[in-house]
This record gives sequence, C-alpha cells and structure tokens, in this order.
Amino acid sequence: MRTPIVELIKTPEQFAAEQIINVKGWVRTKRQNKEIAFIAINDGSIIHNIQIIVDVPNFEEELLKKITTGSCISAIGILKESPASGQAHEIHATEIEIYGTADSEKYPLQKKGHSMEFLREIAHLRPRTNTFGAVFRIRHHMTFAVHKFFNDKGFFNIHSPIITGSDAEGAGAMFQVTTLDLNKVPRTKEGEVDYSEDFFGKETNLTVSGQLEAELAAMALGKVYTFGPTFRAENSNTARHLAEFWMIEPEVAFIEIDENMDLAEEFIKYLVKYALDHCSDDLEFLNKMVDKELISRLQAVIAHPFVRATYTEAVEILQKSGQKFEYPVEWGDDLHAEHERYLVEKHFEKPVILTDYPKGIKAFYMKQNDDGKTVRAMDVLFPKIGEIIGGSQREENLEKIREWITELNIPEEDLWWYLDTRRYGTAPHSGFGLGFERLMLFVTGMSNMRDVIPFPRTPQNAEF
Ligand code: 4AD
Ligand code: MG
Repeated sequence: MRTPIVELIKTPEQFAAEQIINVKGWVRTKRQNKEIAFIAINDGSIIHNIQIIVDVPNFEEELLKKITTGSCISAIGILKESPASGQAHEIHATEIEIYGTADSEKYPLQKKGHSMEFLREIAHLRPRTNTFGAVFRIRHHMTFAVHKFFNDKGFFNIHSPIITGSDAEGAGAMFQVTTLDLNKVPRTKEGEVDYSEDFFGKETNLTVSGQLEAELAAMALGKVYTFGPTFRAENSNTARHLAEFWMIEPEVAFIEIDENMDLAEEFIKYLVKYALDHCSDDLEFLNKMVDKELISRLQAVIAHPFVRATYTEAVEILQKSGQKFEYPVEWGDDLHAEHERYLVEKHFEKPVILTDYPKGIKAFYMKQNDDGKTVRAMDVLFPKIGEIIGGSQREENLEKIREWITELNIPEEDLWWYLDTRRYGTAPHSGFGLGFERLMLFVTGMSNMRDVIPFPRTPQNAEF
C-alpha cells in the first residue's frame, strides 16, 4: 500500500524503525555516481519531497537511466533516519518500478525557475511545480474553510443556477448560452432573433452572480450562502479580472448593514487565520520564494479591526492627499484600484470597509438612504488587492425598487419573481460577495489571478 509523503514527514511516529514503505510520485531531481543515486520524489500531498537512496550496483543500469526529472515511479524500501540536513527520513530502495518516463530533451519542467508567463502556457503541467502545488493545496483549504465557517454558523448552502434567464443584475457583460445554429439563426417576422426556438425558449446567459437567487432563499431559510462559478464577458485583461471566477455570496434575513460588515470582517479574518493555521508549509514556501511580506501581511490583517468609513469621507481623503492618480477623484465616480489601494496601504494602513456609495454607481437592489443620493453599499478593500468584497443591505421596499428599475429601463416582467419577495412577507436583509480568486491572491501573495485558478479563462484564452 502506498504511503503519502505527507505522512512520512508530518507523522513519522506512526512508522516502526526500518519499516518497509512504498512511495509513489514524480521525480523532481536525481543525482547519481557509480555507487549511489539520490532521487527526490514529490507526490503532491505536501510541498516537501522524500529522498530515495539507491545502491546503484543492486539495480539494472537501464532502469536507473530511465528515471529522469518528470518521470513517475513507485519505490519500495526501508525507512531510515536521514543523516542529511533538512529532512528527517529517507528511503533506502529495494525495488523500483517506473510508471512513466519523461524524455529529458522534451519535458518542459526539466529546469527550475521558469517565469509565470511560461508556466501559464503549460497550465496542464504547472501543478507539478512547488509554487502551483502550494497554491492549489491552499485553494482546497480555503474552499473547505468557507463551507466550515458558514456551516458552523448555521447557514445553508444554496446551489444557484449557472444558466440564467435573467439579465437584470447588471454586474457585468454576459456570455450567451444557446443551441441555435449560428449559421442559420431563426428570425421573427420583425427580423429579430427568434429565441422561442432556442433550447429554453428564451434568451439565456451564464450567471454573473448568484445573489438574486440567494435572496429568494434567504427569505425562506434565513441564512444562506452560495459558492459557485460566475462569468463576466468584460474584455478586460488585468491581473484582477477573470472571465470565469468563483464567488461566495452569503445572504442573511433580518440583518442590516452594520451586521453585514461584522459578518464580512469575521469571515475574511477566519479564512486568513485558517490559512495560517492549516497551510503553514506552503505559506512558508511562498513567503520565501514569491512574496517576503506575505506572512506578516496575513498576520496584520487579523490583528486589528478593519477601518470603517463612508465613500464621501474617502473621496475627501483622496482629494486632499496630494497624491497624483491616473484617474481623478470626483464625488459620484467609482473608485479605481489605485484609489482603493491608497486608502488601505498609505492612509489607513489597514483593510477598510467603505459604505454609502452614490446611488448612480451601484445596483438597483441596494437599500436607498434617506438623503436620496446614496445607498447602503459596502465594499471591503484590501492591501495589494483593492476591492475584495462587494455587498449591501438590500432594498426591501417594493415601491422603491420599482421606481429604480423604471429609471434604469429594466422591464418589470424580467424581475417579477424577484419582486414577489418584496410583495409577500418582505423583510430587511443584507449580503455580500467575496471574489474567491481575489482572496486567493491575498492569501498566496501571487500577483496575477491567472496563477491562483487551475485553468484561467481570460479573453482569447481557453486552451486547457
Ligand atoms: O462587486 P461585485 O460585482 O458584486 C456582486 O456581484 C454582488 N452580487 C455581490 C453580492 O452582494 N452578493 O462582485 C463581488 C466580488 C468583487 O468584490 C470581487 O472580489 C469579485 O467578486 N469579482 C471578480 N473576481 C474576478 N474576476 C472578475 N471579473 C470579478 N468581478 C468581481
Ligand atoms: Mg463591486
């Protein structure tokens, strides 16, 4: 039976002295002279390798020749304490089987130190590097921690649909879903596309957010969250946008904006602490190789309360800052990442939650303030990232939502089901969305979102 390397390194006490062990994995390095070979293999269970010690005269020359970086082997041997520094145990091989060779002339990961750009071109192989192994293990732990956090608090997970017939949220440009033959599009008498012949009998798209459905569920189950893929067809090629990304959207009945902020702050601190507690080997690696301030930044975020300020206060701070920004700051305009990062990194030196944004730049479902100008929106801004969470208290008043969607020219019949929650048993409620890859950027110290998701989807890129 195979022993995962993580067990040999983390719980060696479970093995007897000189126990026979079988390990399987991919060769990272091999050094060999006439007498002895050292083969380091990694099986993905942990960032560390295990060293296989091979008595060269005891093995066929042909077999040992085929063991090169990237090949996959199974080794049986005796577990011994290692005299070498940096590792507690090694395996003295008695049998080696090769599962798969890797031509050393061709294997793209033969050498270390490739650029992130190059590794993106071999996204099918990059999980075999230390960096991507660490990132994807952390991604798993963060996924698990999201579910644990909400489960422990009595939330219910809701699977919101991925294909949606509603195009109302306005969170971003959508990808259309259709089975119509694009070479022979059916037309109505007026010459428009006849969606009655499409699969769902109407125009459908990939969802930009699970919020509207989460709201429906919260108006029955009280505390819910979604955690699913979301899709935005913006043609923006930045390090902080993907066309397909994952979002966590809690939605809670009977809470207002302050409790919503408390929940967001508690949630994100929980996730960061969970990473520090459960991913220390991977974080130490990333701290050494990718971002020297990573661990101290993670610790700083959980050490202090987040700053809370209004959008209007933030605009005043930015205008008085004397800082030269690429985009000017004007009350009523959306803040750009450079403004958000100035507030977090230079002015407050802590994560910031901004509230009460101008109505004109926010969505129709946000609770309107009595000033007639602002809404109870909240964005959580983080060092290095900018906006990591966007949310709000929701407008529970039917007439106020109707007025706003009329102003926006959204046909009421597109949203009749959403408006029903305001018609029948409406209640105050609030929620937010955390972009999972933005969290991953923060927790790993990686600088491009394409490097925290296994197979990134961006404009002109869907190879793997
Ligand atoms: O601010 P957004 O657009 O909010 C919503 O979609 C609301 N429905 C959330 C809610 O209240 N339930 O997106 C939420 C978060 C952003 O703060 C950001 O972290 C992330 O989703 N995000 C993206 N992440 C990767 N690529 C993109 N193109 C993203 N757009 C938004
Ligand atoms: Mg937003």
